[in-house]
Amino acid sequence: MSSYAEEIKRVTTHTLQEMKMRGEKISMLTAYDFSMAKIVDAAGIDAILVGDSASNVMAGYETTLPITLDQMIYHASSVVRGVSRALVVVDLPFGAYQGNSSEALRSTIRIMKESGAHAVKVEGGKEIRESVERILSSGVPVMGHLGLTPQSIYKFGTYVVRAKEEEEAARLIEDAKMLEACGCFAIVLEKIPAKLAKKVSESLKIPTIGIGAGAETDGQILVLHDMLGINKDFNPRFLRRYADVYEVMTQAIGNYVKDVRARDFPNQNESY
Ligand code: KIV
Repeated sequence: MSSYAEEIKRVTTHTLQEMKMRGEKISMLTAYDFSMAKIVDAAGIDAILVGDSASNVMAGYETTLPITLDQMIYHASSVVRGVSRALVVVDLPFGAYQGNSSEALRSTIRIMKESGAHAVKVEGGKEIRESVERILSSGVPVMGHLGLTPQSIYKFGTYVVRAKEEEEAARLIEDAKMLEACGCFAIVLEKIPAKLAKKVSESLKIPTIGIGAGAETDGQILVLHDMLGINKDFNPRFLRRYADVYEVMTQAIGNYVKDVRARDFPNQNESY
């Protein structure tokens, strides 16, 4: 007997761990809505992050700070409905876990219950240790995020590469080891030197997922709107554009506008 569930083998946190052990690279992208998530999943992605970058690319804010827990749950539940294979990880937004570990657990439980996602991601190291432990103790898988952590942009003051100096690099390595020891299933390394990312990846058993962290992390993640060329205003060195969807869409919409104005659309075959 073959069922839909048997045909599509879901990616779990264990799958990612096994991929690292086999030396297979992990592919991850962000998604924020049903239709895009469906396409990303169908294309064979291993994991999808419902990133708080939704604050930038979906809502048009300058930073990730304004997005709320309710808004993240809305995006996450839309993504989950579009996915049949990939692991779905959801960012705990700024303000939903920094207060204390009870708040972190409450926010996590809301995400898991109301969206149906599979795991959460949090930014930071030892300063959020208690929250990470509390979430993990409830049975929810946690992904860490170190290096350039956009929720702390006003502390950093700039989006430049992090941990170039020895002291910050040493702190990052310590934080990565601490997150692994707590039981995190993976860690995002954002915008750090490739040499440091390689060292961290080699010193951990859990997978690292890099963005602007070179080729030696166990996997890669990009923001969907950036790699598809929907958002053309963001051009960091680490970004590879795989399409020019902005161009494709403006062309298509422009043609539609032209056809409507010329009374060419709809034609007889497109009418009842
Ligand atoms: O919110 C996000 O999209 C992220 C990725 C850049 C890792 O955290």
